[in-house]
Amino acid sequence: MNIIHTSMECYPIAKVGGLADVVGALPKYQNNLGYNVTVITPFYNNSFVANADVSDIHSSKIILGDHDHEYTLKKLVSPDLGFSAYFVYIKGILDRREVYGHTDDIERSIAFQLAILDWLTTTKEKVDVIHCHDHHTGLIPFLMTNTDQFSSLQNIPTILTIHNAQYQGHMSYDKLHYLPSFDQERIGLLDWYGSLNPLAAGIKCAWKVTTVSPNYMQELQKEANGLEGLLQQEKQKCTGVLNGIDINTWNPETDSMLVKNYSVSSVISGKQENKRWLCDQFNLNYDLPLFGFIGRLVGEKGADLLPEIVKDTLQDSQLNFLFLGSGHQEIEEQLLELQEEFKGLYNVFIGYDEKLSHRIYAGADFLIMPSRVEPCGLNQMYALRYGTIPIVRRTGGLKDTVIDIGDNGFGICHDQTSVWDVCYSIQRGVKLYKEQPQYQKIQKQNMQIDNSWDQSANQYINIYKSLTQQQ
Ligand code: ADP
Ligand code: GLC
Repeated sequence: MNIIHTSMECYPIAKVGGLADVVGALPKYQNNLGYNVTVITPFYNNSFVANADVSDIHSSKIILGDHDHEYTLKKLVSPDLGFSAYFVYIKGILDRREVYGHTDDIERSIAFQLAILDWLTTTKEKVDVIHCHDHHTGLIPFLMTNTDQFSSLQNIPTILTIHNAQYQGHMSYDKLHYLPSFDQERIGLLDWYGSLNPLAAGIKCAWKVTTVSPNYMQELQKEANGLEGLLQQEKQKCTGVLNGIDINTWNPETDSMLVKNYSVSSVISGKQENKRWLCDQFNLNYDLPLFGFIGRLVGEKGADLLPEIVKDTLQDSQLNFLFLGSGHQEIEEQLLELQEEFKGLYNVFIGYDEKLSHRIYAGADFLIMPSRVEPCGLNQMYALRYGTIPIVRRTGGLKDTVIDIGDNGFGICHDQTSVWDVCYSIQRGVKLYKEQPQYQKIQKQNMQIDNSWDQSANQYINIYKSLTQQQ
C-alpha cells in the first residue's frame, strides 16, 4: 500500500510542536511495517533543508487567484529519515524559514494543497490513501471530490487527523477565488457558520476523521469551538487513535542530546547527572525535587497559571522549577520577572530549544502539564520514557495516557485547571519524592511503559485498509 501524509510540520524537517513529532514518527513505523510511506511538506529555508540532499522530481504550475505560480516537487534523499519525504517549493510562497506566523499563511496553505493535488493528477506513482493532518491540508478531501480539476483523484480514500480543533483555518469568503472552480451548490461543504472553514470542510469530505486520542474525540463531540454539532453529525466516520512516540528518537539510553545516557538499571545515577547539569546551568538547588514545564506559553497549556504556581509553592522552599517555552508576551514577561525574586529555586528559558527540552525530560524529577486543552500531549509520554513523573490535568489525551498513583498508576492527576489544583498535585509530588523507594519504583516502572507507535501505526493501517476496500 502506498500512503501519503500531507502536513505543514514533520520532525526533523520543520517542527513547531507535537504535529511534527507525529508526522516524523508515524510514517517511520508504517514504513517498518512494510508499507510505502511518503510525507509531503512545504519547502523550508531552514538549516535542516539547507544541509539535506534534495533533487527536483517534478515542476508545473498552479493558479492561485489571478496569478500563476511555478512549483517544484523536491525529493529528499535521506536514508536516516525512515520514510520518503517530498517538499513543495514555490518561490516567494513556500520557501520561508518559519512554519507559521506569516500574513499570507492562508494563501500558503492553499498553494501547498493545490501543488500536491496537481502533482498527484500527473504522477505515475500509485497512491492508495492520502492522510491529511490538521486544517492546513483539510481542503484536500474537498478539492478531490468537488472540482473538475482534480476529479481524477476522487476515488482515492482520504483521512483527516485533527491534532487540535482550536485551530480551524477560518478564512473569509474573499479567499474563495484562490480555489479552483466548483459547483456553487456545494459551497455548504466549505462553509461553517458564515466563513470558509478548512477543518470543517475536511471533516465533511474526508472518508475518515480521527483525533489524536480517543478521549479528545469524545470531548470534541461535546465542545469543539463550534464544530461539536458537525462532529456529532459525522460520528459514524469519526474515531480516536492515540498518538505514540518514536522510542528511538526518545531513548534515554542513546539520546545524544543528554549529558549522560541511562537505562532502567542506571536511571538513578543517570538522571542525577542530567539534573546536576540543569541545576548548575540554571542556578537551582540539586537537593530539592525539580519540577519542569516544557511547552507553548498559551492558555491552552495552562501556562498563564505558572506565575501564580511559582509564587504559591516557592514560599516554603521545598522544591525547584525550571520552565522552557515561548508564547504570549505577557506570560513570558511575568515568568521572567519572577527570576530575581525566586533566584536559586526557579528559572525559565524563553525560546525554543530542542536539546534543552531533552535535557529537562531527563534531568527533572516531575513534569507539570496543567493543560486546559490537550488533544493528546506527547510531553507526558516523553517524561515517562525518561523516568520523570508527569503531573497532569485529566483532559484529552492526558486522561488516556496517565493514571494517578492513587489508582495504582504512575503519575499525579487532577481534574480542574486551577492554581490550587496544580499546587496540590505538586505537593503530592514533593511528598512522593521524600519516599524515595516508592518514587524510584514508579520511575523504573514508567520507563518500561510501551507508548511507542507500534499499536497505533497498525490501527491507522487497518483504517486505510477498510477505506481501500470501500473504493
Ligand atoms: P503541542 O503540539 O500542542 O505544542 P505536544 O505535547 O503534542 O504539544 O508536543 C509538544 C512538542 O514540542 C514536544 O516535542 C515538546 O518537547 C516540544 N516543545 C514544546 N515547546 C518547546 C520548546 N520551547 N523548546 C523545545 N521543545 C519544545
Ligand atoms: C497538537 C495538540 C497536542 C498533540 C499534538 C500531536 O499540537 O495540541 O495535544 O499531542 O498535536 O498530535
